[in-house]
Amino acid sequence: KVIPLKERNIILTGFMGVGKTTIGQLIANKLYRDFIDVDQEIEKQHNMPVTEIFKSMGEKNFRQMEKDYIVDLCYNSRLKIVSLGGGAFMQEEIRAACLSTSIVFFLDLSWSSWKDRLHLIVDSRPVLQNKSLDDIESLFAARQHVYEINNSKISTDDSDPEEVADYIVRTLK
Ligand code: S3P
Repeated sequence: KVIPLKERNIILTGFMGVGKTTIGQLIANKLYRDFIDVDQEIEKQHNMPVTEIFKSMGEKNFRQMEKDYIVDLCYNSRLKIVSLGGGAFMQEEIRAACLSTSIVFFLDLSWSSWKDRLHLIVDSRPVLQNKSLDDIESLFAARQHVYEINNSKISTDDSDPEEVADYIVRTLK
């Protein structure tokens, strides 16, 4: 069954630290809709931070939880504003569920702007631990291709979160 455009969830994807959570929350406020941050939901379910889930249960288990949560959300909810974890879109099943049920935006940031933010997020992102800047740049580039699959890409280099949120709200009207 096809979900009418006006009822679809709005899903934000993109690399760690581009502002998915901040911008998602702003969009939700502007549209009077519920906001769901998938990582925060998984943290609530397991009563521990994502870093701790990675440590004690391993990345593989985290990816499974992420997939179960997102696929269920896609097929069973409407009208939500959702920010995904930056790795979620690497899973084919997640992409398929998102793209067939929801409106997906890819929040893009250039590598040169992104690397200036690295110090702000590195400690809370297990995927970035023990990696050289070159390794991180390769990961950034490899993921870029996947985020671009079928998504409306929004460049956030020259806009603050408020402007990006306004822009997205306008494109929906
Ligand atoms: C991850 C991104 C994180 C979080 C986890 C793994 C990734 O979310 O899901 O640390 O693989 O890119 P953010 O994109 O919100 O940082």
